[in-house]
Amino acid sequence: MSTLRETAPHKHVPILVNEILTLAQDIPQGVSSYFDGTFGRGGHLKAVLEQFPQARALATDKDSAAVEFAEKNFSEEIENKRLQILHADYSQILEIINSEKTFLKSFDMILLDLGISSPQVDEAERGFSFIKDGPLDMRMNQKQLVKAADIINGWTEDELRNLFFYLGEVKASGRVVRAIVSDRREKPFSTTRELASLIERVEGWKKKGMHPATQYFMALRIQVNGELDHLPGALKDCMSLLNDGGRLFVISFHSLEDRIVKKQFLENEILGFTVNKRIIVPSENEQATNSRSRSAKLRVFQRSFEKRAPAGKKDKYAHKKGQ
Ligand SMILES: C[S@@+](CC[C@H](N)C(=O)[O-])C[C@H]1O[C@@H](n2cnc3c(N)ncnc32)[C@H](O)[C@@H]1O
Repeated sequence: MSTLRETAPHKHVPILVNEILTLAQDIPQGVSSYFDGTFGRGGHLKAVLEQFPQARALATDKDSAAVEFAEKNFSEEIENKRLQILHADYSQILEIINSEKTFLKSFDMILLDLGISSPQVDEAERGFSFIKDGPLDMRMNQKQLVKAADIINGWTEDELRNLFFYLGEVKASGRVVRAIVSDRREKPFSTTRELASLIERVEGWKKKGMHPATQYFMALRIQVNGELDHLPGALKDCMSLLNDGGRLFVISFHSLEDRIVKKQFLENEILGFTVNKRIIVPSENEQATNSRSRSAKLRVFQRSFEKRAPAGKKDKYAHKKGQ
């Protein structure tokens, strides 16, 4: 598909594009208003604008490099008022809508493509890579103060073990954490390779095909960027901003994220329903051609003004709202 080929030179290949566009075709009123909370390099956004020529879009990204990219590469759409890009966290969407910052107030389609973009990982100076050496940073939002190095050099042994257990799903990180705490007494960690080579030394290469630092770096990244903190509230806000028949698409890459998405969709059945009871994953072909797509899971929620929560659940919601 042309969209995939055209976005490749910008170094981020959007995931599950065909599946998303197919499901977007079922939005009864079509797509005139689109919110892309995670612009990245605009791969999905470009595909949506191409598919729905009448659509206008609002996009956010908390990485200023993504916003600069949009301003350069989507200048025509911005000038024509087809696209508005804001340097913001998608969890601020209600605030943005309620301010005068945007011309769109509700949406036929919303996409949250969670996680990091390929340029963020590939550019060593961003500090996400355990292969290329860079500062131990990992901030998506460059204005944020806390970096990965602050956690590695400042957290206690217990705190680090819990972090790697809960967010990295590393069952036994004790030896790595003890080595971190011992080494940092001599010299604080300042680069990604210093940390990665410690993990390689202590863990060895047990799992085929996976670098031993993969889960440690994922845990750190999620913590640094507070990736799970605002997700439940943001999902609820996005669902409430959909027009009747509108759809929210969420791509997640971590089992904890996916669990939050599934739970929020269920808990907000008063607003609509989950479109796909089973998660959608990339085809074998997509997984083979884009290794970063391998852990992706797509869930889709449809807003329905008609839909009411099942009888048993109605009371539950009423109670929560104090009605
Ligand atoms: C996986 S990439 C999105 C790629 C995009 N769909 C594309 O096709 O180019 C995720 C992007 O979301 C951004 N991001 C992550 N969490 C965010 C948040 N809470 N608010 C705004 N942007 C966020 C990241 O900076 C990154 O650029």
